[in-house]
Amino acid sequence: MQIRKDFSLKNYNTFGINATARFFAEVTSVEELKKILQHKDYPEKFILGGGSNMLLVNDIEALVIHVNIKGITILSEDVNSVTIKVMAGENWHQMVLWTIEKDFGGLENMSLIPGNTGTAPIQNIGAYGVELKDSFVCCEAMNRINQELETFSKEDCKFGYRESFFKSEGKDNFVITSVTLKLTKNNHKLNTSYGAIEEELQNKNIINPTIKDVSNAVIAIRNNKLPDPKKLGNSGSFFKNPIITKSQFEIFIEKHPTSPFYKVSESEYKIPAGWLIEQCGFKGKRYGDAGVHSKQALVLVNYDNATGKEILNLAHKIINEVNSKFEIIIKPEVNLIK
Ligand code: EPU
Repeated sequence: MQIRKDFSLKNYNTFGINATARFFAEVTSVEELKKILQHKDYPEKFILGGGSNMLLVNDIEALVIHVNIKGITILSEDVNSVTIKVMAGENWHQMVLWTIEKDFGGLENMSLIPGNTGTAPIQNIGAYGVELKDSFVCCEAMNRINQELETFSKEDCKFGYRESFFKSEGKDNFVITSVTLKLTKNNHKLNTSYGAIEEELQNKNIINPTIKDVSNAVIAIRNNKLPDPKKLGNSGSFFKNPIITKSQFEIFIEKHPTSPFYKVSESEYKIPAGWLIEQCGFKGKRYGDAGVHSKQALVLVNYDNATGKEILNLAHKIINEVNSKFEIIIKPEVNLIK
C-alpha cells in the first residue's frame, strides 16, 4: 500500500474542489484498512469514500484513507427475496444497475445517486419516496480505535431523514466496510407515487412498469434536474429540506400560500429548501466559479475552480437570505470538512 504526499483530491470529491491531502492511501481490502488504521506514523486519519457528500473547505493535514474495497455477494435467497452483501467501495449506481439487471427489486428509485455504497448508510440516502433503510438489513463497520469489525442492525443505525448513528453518536468512530440489503425477486413493491415518476412513465405510455422502467424514469428525471458531477462539480442537495412545527407552518403558509410542503406528522411539516432558495432569487446565479444550479436551487455547483471556502460563503449567503425572508433556518446536508 502506497502512501502519497501532497495529493490532490480534485478527482476524489464530486464537487471537484482542488484541496490537497498531506498524505493519501487507498485501501482495497478489510485487512489493508486494519493495517493502515494501526499505522502509528500518522496519528490523524480521515476516511474518504465516494466523496459525493462533502465540501472540502480546507486542505486535509491528516492521512486520507480512500476506502475502495470491492465485491458483491449473494448471501442467501429464496423464491421471493435475496440478501446481498455489498462492499463499501462499490459505486452505488453501478450496484443498483447490477440489481436491476438481475431483476432484484427495491433500489430502483435510488438509481443514479452518486457516491459509494459504504457511505450510503451514513446519511440514509433516499430519493423519490424510497430510502436506504427500506431495504437495509445490516452493515459491518470497523471500529477505528481497536480495528474490530462490528455489525450494526437497522435499529443500531438509528436512521432518520438524511441521518443515522454514523452521523451522530458514532461520528468519526467507524469505517463502514460492507452493507447488506434484502431485495425482492418477484412481486416487486413499486413506488411510483412520487409525482415526477408517474408523469415520466405516462409520457412513455408505460402502464405496468417493471423495476427497469422505474429505474429508467428516475435516471431521466435526475439527468434533467441534477447536474452530472463529471461535467459540473456538485454534491447533490446541498441543504436539507427544513422541518418546521405546525404553528410555524400555519403562519408561513398564510404568508406564502404557493409554497409546496409535505406533512411529516401531526405536528411537523417539511418545506422544500429548493423553493425557498428560488424565491430568494438565487436559482441559476453565479459568483465566480461558485453557483446555484439553474434547474434545481438546492444544488450548489463548482463551475471549475471554486474553492471550498467560496462555495461555503455562497451557502452562508443563501442561509442568511432564506432566514431573513422566511424566518426559516436551512442547514447543510453535505458534510463540511474544515
Ligand atoms: N422546487 C422549487 N425550486 C427548485 C427546486 C425545487 O420550487 O429550484 C420545488 C419543486 O417544484 C417541488 C419541491 O420543491 O415542488 C421539491 O423538489 P424535488 O422534487 O426536486 O425534490 P427536493 O425536495 O428538492 C429531495 C432530495 C433529493 C431527491 C429528491 C427526489 C433532499 C435534501 N433532497 O429534493 O435528494 O433526489 O427529493 O426524491 O431531501 C440529495 O440528497 O442529494 C438529493 C438529490
